[in-house]
Amino acid sequence: MDIFFEIHKNLPREGPGDSEATLKALSFVPELGVDGRILDIACGPGMQTMDLAENSSATIEALDTHEPFLKALEKKINDGGLRHRIRTRKHSMFNLDYEEESFDLIWSEGAIYIMGFEKGLRAWGKFLKPGGHMVVSEVSWLKKEISNEPRAFWGKHYPEIGTISKNIKIIEHSGYIPVAHFILPEEAWWKFYYTPMIKRIEELRMKHQGEPEWESTLDEELQEVELFRNYSSEYGYAFYIMKKIQ
Ligand SMILES: C[S@@+](CC[C@H](N)C(=O)[O-])C[C@H]1O[C@@H](n2cnc3c(N)ncnc32)[C@H](O)[C@@H]1O
Repeated sequence: MDIFFEIHKNLPREGPGDSEATLKALSFVPELGVDGRILDIACGPGMQTMDLAENSSATIEALDTHEPFLKALEKKINDGGLRHRIRTRKHSMFNLDYEEESFDLIWSEGAIYIMGFEKGLRAWGKFLKPGGHMVVSEVSWLKKEISNEPRAFWGKHYPEIGTISKNIKIIEHSGYIPVAHFILPEEAWWKFYYTPMIKRIEELRMKHQGEPEWESTLDEELQEVELFRNYSSEYGYAFYIMKKIQ
């Protein structure tokens, strides 16, 4: 059994975020009509996919590699009567095979780090129409001076993490005009992500008491939560909204 996926099974989200932030980011993008096309990369269980569908007229391609997350989204699509507007696809962000310049908007919350910020921006841009928009959320340093603990953690897990100003420079060098950015509020880490995850960790701890592999993985996941509790002023998620150069 994959311990990581047991921890993350059926959580409302798979990364920090909430509807308010999704809609705030969407407000910087020109309204899309019925022929608009959105690609939601690494949609997870699809909270933001549903928000995008309910707040635009576009059709959405929602992509993820983990089947159970896509199943969870499928249920939401059916419940919301949005089958004609959202298509899910099990596919990797590393080998997108869409027609070039075919999307008006590419969206990816909490997942571009899997490819790396710059690599993702460069690789995905070719699927955007000229003048199309890209919106990503990315873990970012919020201060110049970073304490040893978060520096060590992110140095191990995502050494590419940068400051907001560094990321804006990367956006400018990768074929885009920066449109806006904002920091995800702290509450958006807790409500749909860390708080349900802590509850799940506690349940699994009871169930798997005395199993070293489980205990060490659960401890590691909790360490990440505690790190954020202690150092949320030093790092956070930032939304970056950009427009592809024509
Ligand atoms: C941190 S989660 C974010 C999910 C969702 N956007 C959200 O905010 O709830 C990262 C997601 O990336 C997906 N993922 C991992 N590797 C992937 C890949 N190579 N291609 C597409 N999705 C991938 C995972 O299954 C997971 O759903």
